[in-house]
Formats: sequence, structure tokens, C-alpha cells
Amino acid sequence: MPKLSLEDKYRLYESSVQNHEVDIDFVNKEFKKTFKRKPLTFREDFGGTAAMACDWVKQSPEHRAWGIDLDSEPISYGLENHYSKLSDEQKERMKYIEGNVLDNQEFKTDVIVAFNFSYFIFKKRNDLLNYFKKVREGLNDEGCFFVDIFGGTEARQPMVEETEHDDHSYFWDCEDYNPLTNEVLYYIHFKKHDNGIKYENVFTYDWRMWSIKEIIDVMEDAGFSKVQTYWEGEDGDGGGDGNFYRTDKAENCESWVTYICAVK
Ligand SMILES: C[S@@+](CC[C@H](N)C(=O)[O-])C[C@H]1O[C@@H](n2cnc3c(N)ncnc32)[C@H](O)[C@@H]1O
Repeated sequence: MPKLSLEDKYRLYESSVQNHEVDIDFVNKEFKKTFKRKPLTFREDFGGTAAMACDWVKQSPEHRAWGIDLDSEPISYGLENHYSKLSDEQKERMKYIEGNVLDNQEFKTDVIVAFNFSYFIFKKRNDLLNYFKKVREGLNDEGCFFVDIFGGTEARQPMVEETEHDDHSYFWDCEDYNPLTNEVLYYIHFKKHDNGIKYENVFTYDWRMWSIKEIIDVMEDAGFSKVQTYWEGEDGDGGGDGNFYRTDKAENCESWVTYICAVK
């Protein structure tokens, strides 16, 4: 099976699934609505390359960030491709931590995020509850925890979704969904346009698929004072318009991605 270089593996991943500018705008706007001030300190759980944390510190000399991931491979990519591009002064305010999101940290932050559904790694409710409790402890008194989540009528069945990008195609492949346990097995494949080669199973995710209501209940049990749900507005063609608004009522569709915010 052809193998992608590490450089391409993370470059293609980031350009396919991440959009930090939008995420940072959303976090800033929602935090300000709740606490009437800008959030300054930021922890990116399951951060991988921690590209978002590196972007966070670019906002002002007062912004600080930490990116936590177990795996040295994405961290090395992040150090070489994101951290290295920060100024010396910005570097002082951004730290990579090679460790477990469950570890106790000596610092607290205004914001913690767990994006790209990474907390789906916890398959048992008690394990997820334990993680959410640790997150709550890691937040300042004025603090918010943001996650993203996906679902829809097409989400719980084997299928492959292909998205075209400038220099590659991205495949989100649901290989298996077990209705008895809600366990899912996902792969990411990429096809590079320059050589026409498809690289299979570049990333594998062995997850439990949680629903929004389950996540709200676990966040409340972890002690969060308020859990806010969002839904994406529609463009004229029935697709998402990129604007997420606060609501607790929505109409299901084939496939959706949205945010949840838990207030400490
Ligand atoms: C789906 S990737 C998410 C990367 C990035 N947050 C993003 O939004 O694209 C999940 C990451 O979580 C890391 N990970 C899994 N379990 C972890 C744990 N218990 N503590 C810290 N990192 C963990 C993996 O090494 C992997 O880099």
C-alpha cells in the first residue's frame, strides 16, 4: 500500500478538516457573550499539530496557549510547520505538552477545546464524565469548554464521503457502525492529484458516536453550570452557511456538524 510522507499526511489532514480562523472567531464571540470580555488563555486538548493554539497566540501579546497530545508525531509536525513560524515573543506564550488530556496540569485557562470529535475516543460514559470533570477543573472560574459534534440521518451507516480540494481529494470513510454499542470505525484516505495515487487508511478512528443530548447530560453531570447548543444557518441551496446560532431546537438533516459550549 503506498504511504504518504509525514509532511503530506498532516498538511493534507489540516487543509481538509481544519478551519482555525472560523473556530477562533466563534470561541471569541461566544465567550464574550457569556463573560463580557475577551478570552485570553487557551488549551487545545487532543491538539495534534496544535495549529489552532499557535494561531491563538497571534491575537495579542496577552494571549497564551497550550496544546496537549499523546503523540509525538503530530507535535513534531506542528513544531516544524506552525510553532517555527511564530515570532520569538509569540513562542514564549505557546507550549506543546506531550501528554494525556486526563493529566492534571499546573495552569488553568479561560477556554478549553476538544475539536474534530476527538473526545469520541471515550466509549464509556464514566470515562467521558471523568474527562469532562478534569476539563472543568482546568478552567478558570470564568471559563468555557467547546467541543464539536457531528451526526445526521446518514451518519450512522457505512458510507464514504469524498471532498475535492485544490491538490487532493479527501475521503471520510465510515467502515462500520454497530447499532448495539454506537461504536464506529472511521478511516481518512487521501488522493493526491499530482501523482493520482490514493493513500488508504492514513488516519483510523475507533470511536463511540455520542449524541448531542448525551453530551449535554454528561457535561451537566460533570458540574458545568450551563450547556449551550448551536445549529448552523442555511444558505439558499439548503447547505450550511457557516453561521452557528444558539438554539435548542433544530431540524435533522442527512449530515450536520455543530458546536456545544459548556460554561464552568
Ligand atoms: C482526531 S485527532 C484531532 C487533532 C486536532 N485536534 C484537530 O482538530 O484536527 C485526535 C488526536 O488526539 C490524540 N489523543 C488521543 N487520545 C488522547 C489522550 N488521551 N490525550 C491526549 N491526546 C490524545 C491523538 O494522538 C490525535 O492526535
